[in-house]
Amino acid sequence: MTENRAFQQAVEILLEARGAVAFTGAGVSAESGIPTFRGEGGIWKEVPPEEFGTPWGIAHLIRTAPERLFKMLRRIGEILLSAEPNPAHKTLGSWEEKGILKGVVTQNVDDLHELGGTKNIYKLHGDLFRWRCLTCGAIRRFQRKDLQELLERITRSFRHLFDLLELLPHCEGCGALMRPDVVLFGEPLPPQEVAGALHLLEQCDVLLVIGTSGVVEPAAGMARMVHNRGGILIEVNLEPGALTPYSQVHLFGEAGEILPALGEEAMKTLSCAQGVS
Ligand code: OAD
Repeated sequence: MTENRAFQQAVEILLEARGAVAFTGAGVSAESGIPTFRGEGGIWKEVPPEEFGTPWGIAHLIRTAPERLFKMLRRIGEILLSAEPNPAHKTLGSWEEKGILKGVVTQNVDDLHELGGTKNIYKLHGDLFRWRCLTCGAIRRFQRKDLQELLERITRSFRHLFDLLELLPHCEGCGALMRPDVVLFGEPLPPQEVAGALHLLEQCDVLLVIGTSGVVEPAAGMARMVHNRGGILIEVNLEPGALTPYSQVHLFGEAGEILPALGEEAMKTLSCAQGVS
């Protein structure tokens, strides 16, 4: 089929159609200056999709190469936020208005179809201008100028963020940022610490429970385990807590006063006993 013939046929089919829809990808926005993903000059030719296109890849980049990630996002952001609809977008918009097209299904996250006049649009891969709360899922729409201002603000402050990041310790092996090796909620306890603690507590018959509310698990459970095995718990605390019911002895007050006093008393008792013997 010659190009001309195909062209004619396409026109006929379109005009006879009762429900024509456009399905678009990055190529429809290429002439607006937005790079495609896979073709010549495509984004995935420049950076690997598994790194820049997945949540875990992005999380890894934030930790290991935040400047590289930011530079890429800023470049794409600037292009997307200043791009104008090209004749393809405008044509699709006008076809919808004329009733030739029912709407557009797009894989693009830009707003060029909408700016080109398309009203009935479904965006399979989401929408750069729609943001979602990571916790509750609430949705908020942003205008172009909102996101442009946000990008400018982030760009202005980013230098300071880097200065701060530079101050933090970096791994001598791979160069990535280091974080304090403390356990955050939802993270597992360090296995070696747990094993060592359990080993110690299994042999324990008296446990001094000092200055803990005893509400965080699984740590509190270890103290209860000593009680359950017949051990005695001595609690030193300003006030009663979750381990109070499991403690036979309660010493309410400042640990810095109670413990030295306890020590002195113990020494006295010990020397008396030695004097007697
Ligand atoms: P691709 O980059 O895979 O394909 C773009 C297509 O557009 C190529 O076939 C080009 O030949 C063609 N093209 C380029 N310029 C054109 C022009 N001026 N006119 C007509 N066609 C042109 O982009 P998509 O197919 O959209 O996913 O990629 C699909 C998905 O892969 C994207 O939505 C994105 C990506 O990973 C997510 O982000 C989830």
